[in-house]
Amino acid sequence: MPTIVFATGNENKVKEANALLRGAFGIVGLRDIGCHETLPETSPTLEGNALEKARYVYRNYQADCFSEDTGLETEALGGAPGVYSARYAGPANDAEANMDLLLANLRGEENRNARFRTVIALILGGEEYTFEGIVNGKIIHVKKGEGGFGYDPIFMPEGYNRTFAQMSVEEKNAISHRGQAIAKLKAFLLERIGKG
Ligand code: IMP
Repeated sequence: MPTIVFATGNENKVKEANALLRGAFGIVGLRDIGCHETLPETSPTLEGNALEKARYVYRNYQADCFSEDTGLETEALGGAPGVYSARYAGPANDAEANMDLLLANLRGEENRNARFRTVIALILGGEEYTFEGIVNGKIIHVKKGEGGFGYDPIFMPEGYNRTFAQMSVEEKNAISHRGQAIAKLKAFLLERIGKG
């Protein structure tokens, strides 16, 4: 089975991608190729950051690779926190502080519409491709649930009356932004293998 590098230092994401892409490609993380640097993420867009990380790995390690960038976009705040989701309340990527700030900024706001958006950038044989996954939902007023991570306790996906933090990992992955983007990546890779 061909191997492809997932340009992330997050071992949990490598494991998750391996489970979701089983049968298509073997996935290794940055540590597996001896890359311990922090990848550049200087773009004001998710697409730009995903491409920047993938290009960095392709250029420096000459390996087929993909990377992803995710943001939570709210309608009332013009798409914020968006590409700055991790650093919304400061550089520490503190999930509680990020949620508290978002709830404060939405206080009194009736429009609670939001979406998670993931962009995956793939570089295969020197060609660049992007895949997008979106899940629409609402930001609720108080945190609910113990599971998940990040903004999960305040995000209720459309058609559900539970937050992502109240769902099992499998249930969330089946509908999530990242799950959808990875499914598109998988379909593309499987078609590529089929074509030899
Ligand atoms: P990253 O691009 O996966 O590093 O995510 C950027 C920011 O969005 C981080 O603050 C994460 O906590 C948040 N985030 C990404 N994916 C999810 C998710 O599935 N649920 C909740 N928060 C997420």
